[in-house]
Amino acid sequence: MPEPCPVTPIHEVFSQRKSIVAVSFIAAFLFLIIVRLTNEVNFPLILNCFGQTSVKWIPFSYTQRRTLRTHYGYINVKTQEPLQLDCGLCAIVSNSGQMAAQKVGTEIDQSSCIWRMNNAPTKGYEEDVGKRTTIRVVSHTSVPLLLKNPDYFFREANSTIYVIWGPFRNMRKDGNGIVYNMLKKTVDSYPSAKIYVTTEKRMSYCDAVFKEETGKDRL
Ligand SMILES: *[C@@H]1O[C@H](CO)[C@@H](O)[C@H](O)[C@H]1NC(C)=O
Repeated sequence: MPEPCPVTPIHEVFSQRKSIVAVSFIAAFLFLIIVRLTNEVNFPLILNCFGQTSVKWIPFSYTQRRTLRTHYGYINVKTQEPLQLDCGLCAIVSNSGQMAAQKVGTEIDQSSCIWRMNNAPTKGYEEDVGKRTTIRVVSHTSVPLLLKNPDYFFREANSTIYVIWGPFRNMRKDGNGIVYNMLKKTVDSYPSAKIYVTTEKRMSYCDAVFKEETGKDRL
């Protein structure tokens, strides 16, 4: 419910009391900053006072109130927009056979973000690996494996974000990138699928990190 706003229209006051208005603006701005920092009042309620009536008042929990961070290295295949994501405690689950019989599914499912690799299964292994998936990081070579079961990955698991990485020759967007073309077809068939590709710049950054950490050239 938007609250009525006790704000005097600016144009009426401005000519008479310039300095008071200026001071009020500074005070209002400071107030906004303090509110953001303390998180004691819901920010969308204040936005209503500035005319954004479409913002609904929702009693956020702490995790929902976190602002999403923008990650410019990952671009949505359908919208061409960068990835927005903010994680607290992450569970990064390997797709190694060693995960079997670990019985850590409940613990994994309690994490705010759960990362999985390629097409690593959860169905039938929930007790060991958990059932929630926030993100799947998928190699270009594993995209055909996901496409063997597209109804599961891109319809049933439509809350999962897919981040695909691969070399430029496969990921180019000019019609000659074999993997990019597959992904493009997939978002046409599954409009709710959240599929992102890694930019060339981000790929070279990751390659550099890999080399630094392992001493090996991935290329
Ligand atoms: C998204 O996933 C849910 C849960 O699996 C499913 O019920 C729903 O139909 C899916 N939505 C679309 C648009 O595929």
